[in-house]
Amino acid sequence: MCGIVGYIGSKKAYPILIKGLKRLEYRGYDSAGVAMISDSGDLNVYKAKGKVDNLTDYCNDKDVSGCVGIAHTRWATHGEPSARNAHPHYSSTHNLAIIHNGIIENYADIKTQLQAKGVEFKSDTDTEVLVQLVEYIMVKKNLPLVEAVQVALHQVIGAYAIAIIDKRDPRQIIAARKQSPLVVGIGKDEFFLGSDASPIIDYTDKVVYLEDGNIAVIRLGEELKVISILGEEQELKVKTVDIDLGQIEKGGYEHFMLKEIFEQPECLMNCMRGRINVEGNHVTLSAMIDYRQQLLGAKRIVIVACGTSWHAGLIGKQLFESLCRIPCEVEYASEFRYRNPVVTKDDVVIAISQSGETADTLAAIQLAKEQGAFIFGICNAIGSSIPRATNTGTYIHVGPEIGVASTKAFTGQVTVLSMLALCLAAERKTISEDLYKQMVKELTQIPDKMVQALKTNEQIEHLAPIFTYAKNCLYLGRGYNYPLALEGALKLKEISYIHAEGYPAAEMKHGPIALIDSEMPVFVIATRDRLYEKVISNIQEVRARGGRVTALVTEGDTQIQKFADHVITLPDTLECFQPLIASIPLQLLAYHIAVCKGKDVDRPRNLAKSVTVE
Ligand code: G6P
Repeated sequence: MCGIVGYIGSKKAYPILIKGLKRLEYRGYDSAGVAMISDSGDLNVYKAKGKVDNLTDYCNDKDVSGCVGIAHTRWATHGEPSARNAHPHYSSTHNLAIIHNGIIENYADIKTQLQAKGVEFKSDTDTEVLVQLVEYIMVKKNLPLVEAVQVALHQVIGAYAIAIIDKRDPRQIIAARKQSPLVVGIGKDEFFLGSDASPIIDYTDKVVYLEDGNIAVIRLGEELKVISILGEEQELKVKTVDIDLGQIEKGGYEHFMLKEIFEQPECLMNCMRGRINVEGNHVTLSAMIDYRQQLLGAKRIVIVACGTSWHAGLIGKQLFESLCRIPCEVEYASEFRYRNPVVTKDDVVIAISQSGETADTLAAIQLAKEQGAFIFGICNAIGSSIPRATNTGTYIHVGPEIGVASTKAFTGQVTVLSMLALCLAAERKTISEDLYKQMVKELTQIPDKMVQALKTNEQIEHLAPIFTYAKNCLYLGRGYNYPLALEGALKLKEISYIHAEGYPAAEMKHGPIALIDSEMPVFVIATRDRLYEKVISNIQEVRARGGRVTALVTEGDTQIQKFADHVITLPDTLECFQPLIASIPLQLLAYHIAVCKGKDVDRPRNLAKSVTVE
């Protein structure tokens, strides 16, 4: 992952770079660094282990002058997180500095070759290999920077978004990308670089999303030039970004995660806007109109995703099978891509990804494409790599998600999956007209019901301290609530570092029941649905072994209080939409437990928001 920022113009680069890095910290925060060509022409590189604040502390007494610079926030792949391995990396002569997001897979071979020619390395990173290679080529072949970059990129295998500056030419930044995102912002006599548009939008809304295999030649006083690795000039596709700055700031909440949990009713309205009619009885997706034949022709649906998006996929599977009668499989993208799966041209592959950049999901798409499948994307980040790699898709439109633990993207994904399943079911006539209308109507009621569910916040905040000392937690659910049990457990693990497992409630007796004692909190999603009575039996099984049960129940429930230690009451809805409501208390629970434990909720250790490495 890693975050990349760059600036060249007439303003002071340092504040712009630091502000940009802070916006990109969700991509990794093992270390941060900055390289600037100072007013006196020096190329200064400063770096620090940990978060961007450590870098700014370090830079307090340094020369941070200059109007051109590049900066980086790192999620370590090669080389331990340390200042030494932090980016930017100098070349041997200290004429060049590079930042990189991605992995150079053949770095060890190139490093050996360069070492044999006398090049000395200062770090353990794959990135340093690239800058040394570029410098070696510049000197050996007497080439200008841009041409040396072209030659070097021919030799490397792997994924990259890079930016390089040369102190002998302070009017230029060279940037390139392959499989890692990179955006160039075009201002008035100034340019910006970002892994996404968030570091850029304060200054300009004109951007170019660099495409795979392309190089941006950014020169002050000239127009932005985009060329291929072969040097062929590419058409400049300037887009206007439409991100509201308020959307990416905390808006009065203590953490982005809490803000994003509370935003969900509004997000889901945005997600359904223009897709469900005002009467609330019909849903249309433009992809369904444009690609009707391909989508209706699906003999099977295969969902590929990672993390929380995979959990949304598990809910999608139940929707597609029960409403549309289409067989559906849900695959971890990282497994799918390497296990030679059977994929045919009769398959529709749905790739779900909040960031639209997850490397494994992108690779899974590539594989499915090669086998002739039709690819449908469900993403949040507009213009990101996955939507561009798919045949069609539907954005979830929930706005930027900054908290590393995914919340609003999950409910947005489930909403899009629900709308898609309803469209397909209606076209395939596998749903009665009455049920279709009832379901569409109910979907439009979900934002209001989420507002109700958010009222549990205070109760959960009070409950949270009870659970902070737990070493293990169990989350149980059945049917549509089983993926939610997985998601609830994942949220807790991610931000509070308490081990948690999600299980289908009835499966508990085949193993996890052995773990139950009075020390282990058990969270049961026991909303009123077809399996309600069975879940009550599961709760009793837990109680009989001294387990402490916290149950999520439907309003009006009187039975479960008799067995549960704590009860959280939620508004009623259709069974298949229950995860949209019940996810809220589970997110709040994880959030408040983590806050009680004093954890860094928005930036949990070892995790990153956008996983652009496999
Ligand atoms: C990371 C994030 C998760 C996310 C997963 C998949 O692990 O921390 O929150 O669910 O990647 O990301 P994607 O952007 O593809 O949904």
